[in-house]
Amino acid sequence: MKHYAQHDVLIIGSGAAGLSLALRLADRARIALLTKAALPESATLYAQGGISVVLDKEDSLRSHIEDTLGAGAGLCDRKAVEYTVTRARECMGWLVDRGVDFTREAGPPGTKTAYHLTREGGHSHRRVIHAADATGRAVETTLEGQVRAHPNIKIFEHYLAIDLIKERGGERRCLGAYALDLRGNGEVRAFGAAHVVLATGGAGKVYLYTSNPDIASGDGIAMAWRAGCRVANMEFIQFHPTCLYHPSAGSFLISEAVRGEGGRLLLPDGSRFMERFDPRGELAPRDIVARAIDYEMKRLGIECVYLDISHKPAAFIESHFPNIHRRCLELGHDMTREPIPVVPAAHYMCGGVMTDLHGRSDVPGLYAIGEIAHTGLHGANRMASNSLLECLVFAAAAAEDIERELGHHRAPTALPAWDESQVTDSDEEVVVSHNWDELRRFMWDYVGIVRTDKRLQRAHHRVELLKQEIDEYYGNFRITSDLIELRNLVLVAELIIRSARSRKESRGLHYNLDYPYLIEPPEPTVLIPSSGKCGK
Ligand code: FAD
Ligand code: SIN
Repeated sequence: MKHYAQHDVLIIGSGAAGLSLALRLADRARIALLTKAALPESATLYAQGGISVVLDKEDSLRSHIEDTLGAGAGLCDRKAVEYTVTRARECMGWLVDRGVDFTREAGPPGTKTAYHLTREGGHSHRRVIHAADATGRAVETTLEGQVRAHPNIKIFEHYLAIDLIKERGGERRCLGAYALDLRGNGEVRAFGAAHVVLATGGAGKVYLYTSNPDIASGDGIAMAWRAGCRVANMEFIQFHPTCLYHPSAGSFLISEAVRGEGGRLLLPDGSRFMERFDPRGELAPRDIVARAIDYEMKRLGIECVYLDISHKPAAFIESHFPNIHRRCLELGHDMTREPIPVVPAAHYMCGGVMTDLHGRSDVPGLYAIGEIAHTGLHGANRMASNSLLECLVFAAAAAEDIERELGHHRAPTALPAWDESQVTDSDEEVVVSHNWDELRRFMWDYVGIVRTDKRLQRAHHRVELLKQEIDEYYGNFRITSDLIELRNLVLVAELIIRSARSRKESRGLHYNLDYPYLIEPPEPTVLIPSSGKCGK
């Protein structure tokens, strides 16, 4: 097995969290950046609406904090919220210094106007800085160029991290990770580092319909859990209310900013319905809007609802939403002239690997930042555009912490070899593709926007059978990327179901018809790996 040069820091994942951490550290540390696809491929690349930050003089940090706590339905950690919100301006300044070109207010040619701020659900002010409707692309590609150019960052594209490597004795520190070389001949390589950071994003692929790209298979959460990290609040899966309803659109997102700029949700007869569910109408937090749409679709037996912004001038729509407008046109919908069909889809994982405010996990030497992490910021429901913010703030926090630790820990000089002596090539790949489909379908049907005890129990039963089958398969056959991802998805699904079953109330994104009420005081759901216990 080839053994790579030792690094100070191994970063797994190249979205907003991984890239910004790499750049924050690169002048002082030797970094290995490992990523399972081409470097820019990430949820970050597809982010549309923007990043929340208080810039308007009518707005205040207090208001951003209160809105975040409100959306989180009693389960945010106030310290994490205050920490994040107060660091937002510094992070935006850092991005601007790096060259990210955020949209500005219209003004006379040649003048530098203020940044345009859009509005999204749950925010009581205009507070979302953006690069038209492709903010993630602007952030990702700007940082990508600088990461590629930095001499201290060694990039390993198309390497799929399989599992973390831990010290056998001592403090059981994280020493590195095994990764499958997807472009080579299927070799597994060990990467050693003094500090290891998981920045692997979310797990949208656990559901049949999702706004997430294919990389979102929960690998980091599964690896962290197997390494002994606690996870929290896994039941709070956010469903974005408006993905384009189209057979070949792959749940293409229609940004919440469309509603922020006046878009209205309509039933097939053209009537509005959101006011019946919340006085904030289309700009209520996402859990409320997604549930309202789900309710109306089930009540009327319809396949979608409609989003209409055609009352705004075409020039306004084309300049604010150039990419969404273009993509919809390609698919036969002209949003400047007609309402477009939309449905909810799985979008964001509010829970994750438990970390402190430096991004440190339970395992010494192991950090988790970005969507993978549970920092306490989001509680039971993430407010729009707080996710990219969290990636940036906690990348900066982890960078500061790692920098303080540099020199106190060395990269391991030897790592245990990956053992493939007991496995053969599979002659039943169909098991993997069948189980992949089955998992995503029952998660959608039984662990979706509206849950019941019976549905959750059914899902639990099925996931246990799948887990058994996959573990057996994993033990006997040579690994492939599909098998690794399926194994991780099944584990993440189990964590979601176990968390959902233990919550005997309806709060934020978790809505159970058998318990349609709140239980006070609010408690996070914490799962502990070694005991298999579900603690509160
Ligand atoms: P990601 O950007 O998902 O990056 C994860 C990285 O880890 C990828 O490079 C991936 O290849 C790599 N990886 C994963 N597993 C492995 C493995 N086993 N081995 C090696 N590499 C691995 N949030 C906002 O705040 N504002 C928005 O406007 C917004 N819009 C969104 C629109 C869409 C369509 C989507 C899907 C999400 C949106 N979000 C938005 C959410 C936000 O984009 C994500 O939460 C955020 O980008 C996550 O960043 P990350 O760095 O944690 O992970
Ligand atoms: C969107 O643009 O609607 C996505 C924003 C987010 O997920 O924060």
